[in-house]
Amino acid sequence: MVDTGDARTPAVTKAVVPAAGLGTRFLPATKATPKEMLPVVDKPAIQYVVEEAVAAGLDDVLLITGRSKRSIEDHFDRAYELEEALATKEDWDKLALVRESSELAIMHYVRQGDPKGLGHAVLCAAQHVGSEPFAVLLGDDLIDSRDPLLTRMIDVRDQFGGSVVALMEVDPEEVSLYGCAAIAPTADDDVVMVTDLVEKPVPGSAPSRWIVIGRYVCDSAVFGVLRETQPGRGGEIQLTDALKVLAAKGELRGVLFHGRRYDTGNKLDYLRTMVMFATQRPDLSSEFIPWLRKYLEGMP
Ligand code: G1P
Repeated sequence: MVDTGDARTPAVTKAVVPAAGLGTRFLPATKATPKEMLPVVDKPAIQYVVEEAVAAGLDDVLLITGRSKRSIEDHFDRAYELEEALATKEDWDKLALVRESSELAIMHYVRQGDPKGLGHAVLCAAQHVGSEPFAVLLGDDLIDSRDPLLTRMIDVRDQFGGSVVALMEVDPEEVSLYGCAAIAPTADDDVVMVTDLVEKPVPGSAPSRWIVIGRYVCDSAVFGVLRETQPGRGGEIQLTDALKVLAAKGELRGVLFHGRRYDTGNKLDYLRTMVMFATQRPDLSSEFIPWLRKYLEGMP
């Protein structure tokens, strides 16, 4: 544990990444391949997420996995045969790419067993995390590395203690797809007190247009609450419901995020994300953008 100079507020060093979902939105691609391994251009979505955790100083990463997720573990492990073949060919660039993911972070894995919801997945991290605060990163959301959200959330946790969610303002018709927060201002423009949370509110009943995006910094107190949390929306143990209890105690803040977030959780957003990443890649954009323009011009 890193000493932050305040015994009550240990530093955040661990990241928890739930990756046990069945990925049914992407069938048949996800029949034998975890959805977390679907590429965004040429890198599996999960690698961007682990890179984000590492960039925020969290190089202890616990993945909550389930059945058919072995390729995720292989991806973050050494691949001796492949490395040897690339070394023999003196293909150093590709060798570096292959090694990168195995050298990123100290990876740990625990299996969720029963898919009982996001709250239950996070509870599976209790033994590994112990009594330290920790970050949770959901793989469906990618945050642009130029907009460092997690670092700010960790600052807020270091300063005030408690737990922190990331909030983004969306159109009213989108609110019911997410957890939604009732908020009150604080002295910091980008920080709010979260006074209530509702998981996927029915249209018209949302407390605001501020939705919870897939980044959390949780105090370990959340584990005790999760153990008591009954199944909620969709019959699942919801992380939102546990955080709502912390919100009622004045122990939950929100960081208002105005940066770039990319969704890979459904087909349309995944396609948008892929195109956005491709158009920003220096090695692809000069050919891809003119082709895309021409293709669209030729569309009926
Ligand atoms: C989960 C959370 C929800 C949050 C969302 C962010 O929902 O339960 O509160 O707003 O992630 O992506 P899911 O996307 O798993 O349905």
